Amino acid sequence: MERSTAEYKIKELSAEIEKHNHTYYVLDKPIISDFEFDKLLEELIDLEKKYPDLLSPNSPSQRVGGAITKTFKSVKHKYPMLSLSNSYSEVDLIDFDRRVREGLGHKDGDLFSNLVQYVCELKFDGLSVGLTYHDGELLHAVTRGDGERGDDVTTNAKTIRSIPLKLTGYFPKEFEIRGEIYLPRPVFEAINKEREEIGDAPLANPRNAASGTMKMQDSKVVASRKLDCFLYNLIGDDLPFDNHFASLNAAKSWGFKISTHVKLVNSINEVLQFIHHWDKKRLDLPFDIDGIVIKVNDYKQQLQLGFTAKSPRWAIAFKFKTEQVSTELLSISYQVGRTGAITPVANLKPVALGGTTVKRASLHNADIMEKLDVRVGDQVFVEKGGEIIPKIVGVDLQKRKPHTQRTTYITECPECGSKLEREEGEANHFCPNDSACPPQVKGRIEHFVSRRAMDIDSLGAETIEQLNKAGLVKNIADLYDLKKEDVVNLDRMAEKSAQNLIEGIEASKKIPFERVLYSLGIRHVGETTAKKIAKKVKTLDLLVKASKEELLGIDEVGETIAESIAAYFSKVENKELIHRLKKAGLQFELSEAQQQAGSSKLEGLSIVISGVFNKFSRDQLKDMIELNGGKNSGSISGKTSYLLAGENMGPEKLKKAQSLGVKIISEDEFLNMIS
Ligand code: IVH
Repeated sequence: MERSTAEYKIKELSAEIEKHNHTYYVLDKPIISDFEFDKLLEELIDLEKKYPDLLSPNSPSQRVGGAITKTFKSVKHKYPMLSLSNSYSEVDLIDFDRRVREGLGHKDGDLFSNLVQYVCELKFDGLSVGLTYHDGELLHAVTRGDGERGDDVTTNAKTIRSIPLKLTGYFPKEFEIRGEIYLPRPVFEAINKEREEIGDAPLANPRNAASGTMKMQDSKVVASRKLDCFLYNLIGDDLPFDNHFASLNAAKSWGFKISTHVKLVNSINEVLQFIHHWDKKRLDLPFDIDGIVIKVNDYKQQLQLGFTAKSPRWAIAFKFKTEQVSTELLSISYQVGRTGAITPVANLKPVALGGTTVKRASLHNADIMEKLDVRVGDQVFVEKGGEIIPKIVGVDLQKRKPHTQRTTYITECPECGSKLEREEGEANHFCPNDSACPPQVKGRIEHFVSRRAMDIDSLGAETIEQLNKAGLVKNIADLYDLKKEDVVNLDRMAEKSAQNLIEGIEASKKIPFERVLYSLGIRHVGETTAKKIAKKVKTLDLLVKASKEELLGIDEVGETIAESIAAYFSKVENKELIHRLKKAGLQFELSEAQQQAGSSKLEGLSIVISGVFNKFSRDQLKDMIELNGGKNSGSISGKTSYLLAGENMGPEKLKKAQSLGVKIISEDEFLNMIS
């Protein structure tokens, strides 16, 4: 292809890809499938590789990440990034309205000059960012920082698909737009589920997760986190609008994601109605809000009202109350998780909160406990935030009884007495005795037998506890030495359940290699990573011998995972375990069929499975999709390539597939595709 043709093609592809980013991530109405989208992007990336000088800093290819930010440059804000004053009650808001009217010189009873319109908006709970555009191109993204200076996070911001890199329509030559970067709640929950599976401490809440992510050095990881961004404040020297509402509508037409829940109202009473509505409805939103923002709409009126040193006089935030109660702290206990992480837990005098009785609450970690100076016998404040587990947020010092003792954090494991360790940069303490500390041992066995791992469903937590206490099962390899005679004598174990247990263990010997690998519970090796490793390395022997470089060459394996794998296989007790498991007959390599079945025939395709099938189980079909390079996804969207339909499929799924124009294929058609 000639250079000039390539240049034209790059422009055309970039515009088309950005259009699809907009329809998918801003308008939530995709018009092409994932597969088609990825093809366009691949084509663009190929051309840019051939003509590197044609790669523009705002090419949609930059959204996949890859660039590393070693240190985030500190930048001065052109317009200081102020915050809002807060209000907590209706009286505060009525007072705000009065101050606004007085500031504008309105007099009671003066009907004609009395009109103040307010814009009501959701107060997004994330991290604020200022985006600067020149000639319709994103130039900088800067965090709030101290309000005067912030950090340049442009590279990471470009990975957020709803932030336009190039604008459309008629926009001012130069302006800044501010908004909030946030992590949608379902994404946050998925990340934590995955972290739990691989033994990482969960992220505290979506806000911390979002700001932590924006400060990551590797933009590829940022891209994978699926952050989003609502914009809410347009700033510039000569903006062609006379009110805020009009500016938001215009920004929407240039491609920005503006919330659909913005309302222009004519009185403070309507503001209160808006607040009542969202106080109830906010839990239905797929993202967190912590209040409502109220802004005077008219720019002239805003100018007239001006600013205090810290915040505008023309706007105010109304903060929702998080329900909080106080109760007595009876004692503190320390839980040890599967990976040895210690969690301090407050045992409370039972108290009603948010519809349930709360007896226990999280005390976070040693640092927070020390900062709160929380002591047994104190009256503590308990809150139920976005998280499911209630937490202690403070101590009522006025009610502190005399002679209470300062809390000292434990230094030894409450379960096995080992000296606790704390790695640099980690918030939690750890018990290092992973081979003999009971909750760690039991936790690892529970993980090993769980449904997505070895699927020995006849073995529940209670039986594991019994077997462990009886000295029969101290590690996962011991399971394969169990005999029916050993088990049948346990409490509450009948002949039939003992038989089921032994059969379940026997059947697990057929579980494929990638699931065995996941079952071992190597830290940071979740289901997806285990699959990728198994597919690439093929046998456990080769994995044990693999160099760090070889491991790093596998998709999804970074330094942390590579180091964790090496550490696991270097331990003598793990080598011994593997030896015994192998002797017991577990699958430590991909089956012949799997080795041959692997292809890239379904590369880039996203397939949803629904219904019951004749030839294969759903799990087998899922494995086949993945072995052939495809992606199995749970729900139908515009990005779905095929719906693999069996018998008795849900009518909703069928309807959705038809309405989105997703192709529906039978089991036989699918088998033909991969044959
Ligand atoms: S307007 C001059 N609108 O709340 C103030 N802020 O303390 C401009 N926020 O720092 C801010 N949602 O991070 C505005 N719809 C919204 C908002 C919002 C969230 C955040 C923002 C700001 C803080 C106010």
